[in-house]
Amino acid sequence: MSSKNLLFVVGARPNFIKIAPLCIELGKRGGMPFQIVHTGQHYDQLMSDVFFEELNIPEPDFKLEVGSGSHGKQTGDMMAKLEGLCQEHAFSCIVVIGDVNSTLAAALVGAKLNIPVAHVESGLRSFNRSMPEEINRIATDHVSDVLFVPTQLAMANLRNEGLQARSHFSGDVMYDMILHGLELAHKHSSILEQFQLSPKAYYLATLHRPYNVDAPEQLKAIMSGLSSLDAPVLLSAHPRLQKNLAQFGIAVGKNVQLTQPFGYLDFVVLEKNARKVITDSGGVQKEAFFVQTPCVTLRPETEWVETIETGANLLVPDRTAEAILKAAYQETAPRYEESPYGDGNASKIIIDILQSKYYS
Ligand code: UD1
Ligand code: UDP
Repeated sequence: MSSKNLLFVVGARPNFIKIAPLCIELGKRGGMPFQIVHTGQHYDQLMSDVFFEELNIPEPDFKLEVGSGSHGKQTGDMMAKLEGLCQEHAFSCIVVIGDVNSTLAAALVGAKLNIPVAHVESGLRSFNRSMPEEINRIATDHVSDVLFVPTQLAMANLRNEGLQARSHFSGDVMYDMILHGLELAHKHSSILEQFQLSPKAYYLATLHRPYNVDAPEQLKAIMSGLSSLDAPVLLSAHPRLQKNLAQFGIAVGKNVQLTQPFGYLDFVVLEKNARKVITDSGGVQKEAFFVQTPCVTLRPETEWVETIETGANLLVPDRTAEAILKAAYQETAPRYEESPYGDGNASKIIIDILQSKYYS
C-alpha cells in the first residue's frame, strides 16, 4: 500500500452528501489513491446506501459497522476500530467531514497516531455547547492539521481560536454538490408527480435534533404547529423522529404526510419547489438557501449564520405551535445574491491542497 494514500472517513447521512463532490473531483484527476471507511453510524438503506448509489460514491473499502449507541460508546467503538485500521495500513492523511461522532472519533485517532488530519467544513460554531455537534466541531478543529473552511465567518471563528495558520478558505462542498445534484435530479427525479405536489403549494419539513424530538411535550408542540399550517406538509422522518413519534404515541395531523427519508436527488427537488422549508437540520438550512426557498429553523441558534443575516432563514427559538405558524407565514425578502458559500469550487480547492501536501 502506497503511503500517498488518503483515508476519507464517513458515517452519517450528511457525510455522504459532503464526500460525493470530493470523490467527483478525485475521479477527474485519475490515479490519485484514496480509500473510504464507513463507520456504520447510519446504516439503514435510506440513511446510507441510497447516497452511495445515486451519487456514485465508491463503495467503502472498510466498513466498521459500529451502529447506534450512547455518545461515549459509539465514539469509543469507532476509535478502537479506526485505530486498528490505521495501524494495519499506511495513510498519508485522514480526511474527516462535518461534525458528527464519526468526525470526532477519526480526528482523535489520527491526532494520537500522528497521522495528519484534514477537516472539511471547519470553523462552524453555534456557540451552544449543549449540542453534541458543537463539542465535535471544536475538538475536531483543534486536533486537526489542515482546516477547510466554508465561509468567511467560520474563518473568523478559527482566527479567534488561534487556528488561522492551519485554515484555508474553500467554500462549501454542499454548494458544489447541489449544483451538480440539481442537474442530476432534473434527469432522474419524478418526486413531485409521485406525491402529486404542485410547486410552492406545500411545505417540506425535517426534524431530528434531540431537543426537538426526544422530549414528548416539545415534539407534540411542533407536530401541532405543522398540523395547523395552511398547506400540506411533507415530513421526512429521520429514524430518531420515527421512533419517538411511535414511542410517545403522538398523532400526526391530517395535512402532514410522514414519509420515509428521501434520496438526495428527490430531496433537493422537494426543497427547490417547497413554499418554505421547515427544519432543524444544519445541511437542510443551507440547501434551502442554495435553492432559494425561504427557511424556518426550529432551533434557538444556528452555525449557518449567513442564512439568517441574508434574510433567507428565520429562527424559532421558542418552538411552540404559535411561534412556528408565525414564522411560516412571515413574509421575507432574502438576499441570495450575497452568496457567502464560495463559487462552487470548494472540492477543487480542497483536493488541490491535499494533493500538494500529501501526494507530492
Ligand atoms: C446524527 C448526528 C447529528 C446529525 C445527524 C444527521 C451525532 C452526535 N449526531 O444524529 O449531528 O445531524 O446524525 O442525520 O453524531 N437510527 C436508525 N437507523 C440508522 C441510524 C440511526 O434507526 O441508520 C436510529 C437509532 O435508534 C439511533 C438514532 O437513530 O439511536 C440516532 O442515531 P445517531 O447517529 O446516534 O444520531 P442522529 O440523531 O442520527
Ligand atoms: N436529506 C436527504 N433526504 C431527506 C432529508 C435530508 O437526502 O429525507 C439530505 C439533505 O439534502 C442534506 C442532508 O441530508 O444534504 C442533511 O443531513 P441531516 O439533516 O441528516 O443532517 P445535518 O445536516 O443536520 O447534520
